[in-house]
Amino acid sequence: MKVDGKPYRTIWLGPDGTTVQAIDQTLLPHDFVVRDLATVSDAERAIRTMIVRGAPLIGAAAAYGMALAMAEDPADAMLARAYTRLLESRPTAVNLRWALDDLRALLAPLPPAKRRDAAYKRAAEICDEDVEICRRIGENGLALIRKMKPRGDRINALTHCNAGWLATVDWGTALAPIYQAHDAGIPIHVWVDETRPRNQGASLTAWELGKHGVPHTVIADNAGGHLMQHGQVDFCIVGSDRTTRRGDVCNKIGTYLKALAAHDNGVPFYVGLPYPTIDWTIEDGHRDIPIEERSARELSHLTGRTEAGTTATIAVLPDGSAAANPAFDVTPARLVTGLVTERGVCAASEAGLLSLYPEQTRAA
Ligand code: MRU
Repeated sequence: MKVDGKPYRTIWLGPDGTTVQAIDQTLLPHDFVVRDLATVSDAERAIRTMIVRGAPLIGAAAAYGMALAMAEDPADAMLARAYTRLLESRPTAVNLRWALDDLRALLAPLPPAKRRDAAYKRAAEICDEDVEICRRIGENGLALIRKMKPRGDRINALTHCNAGWLATVDWGTALAPIYQAHDAGIPIHVWVDETRPRNQGASLTAWELGKHGVPHTVIADNAGGHLMQHGQVDFCIVGSDRTTRRGDVCNKIGTYLKALAAHDNGVPFYVGLPYPTIDWTIEDGHRDIPIEERSARELSHLTGRTEAGTTATIAVLPDGSAAANPAFDVTPARLVTGLVTERGVCAASEAGLLSLYPEQTRAA
């Protein structure tokens, strides 16, 4: 997508052919800075500190992390160490494990001298594939939007967190259909949940929708239910960090509450996701998905731009109050209207997913 007229992806190989470059998402929306990732430690830190974030982008960054490791030292010990280190950088998004497994399976049988080039080639392929997958999610979601009968003069979508192009390599998952609808001339407006505590909605989704010219309004996380009660939301669409084979959806904390409100108000609740986000090894998301507990500081402090134009961090809690910060929740499949994938739209159920991915059927 474009930033001030210039096309960007979120991550790419730098001009020296080794260093990886990525947009620093911790500084948006106020500063647009590109970071160099020169070592596997840089890649690991970028994922852990959320310079790069969003399940598909975490997978792409991990793939490049493996390439950086092989550029440093292509020996078996480094391969094993890089895999473990990167895997531990964030626990919830399954795309991370998917990308690391893919790279390790490719690299382990190769002689060390061939690993560097093979790793960079595969990381680039994973990025290109992500762009194409997200484009197709957009097409499949657009077909749904075309059939909607808006209650007003525009279609009102509601989204949570950031599942736009910043969360992927390009296009986004949940936002890809919205970009395509907007580009097709469909009047569409997005209610953007601010998404406390890290404000991915307010800082990232609002920024990228604005850069593309998509009408949007940021709302407090608690406002969505009220808007749904008053007929102001035609559909919800969110991304996913891990979806089980039965269609339970793990996504940014607060997604479950939106799904409950949508269910209570008869508002369709869709999830956009690429195939590496499906964890075929688990069924029950509530029981089997490890939920990342992040620092209480994300809750107790806010960083933003002052009226003087400087960046400042302020405390918002009383001294001594404890804070808990589970970063994701699980929305049970029964609350999900449909899963929008690169292969089409299906019911959030094992049968639904297998209708699109029959190769995942278990042997009887
Ligand atoms: O903690 P983050 O910012 O990495 O959160 C992940 C997400 O971006 C969201 O949960 C998103 O909705 C799914 S990833 C497209």
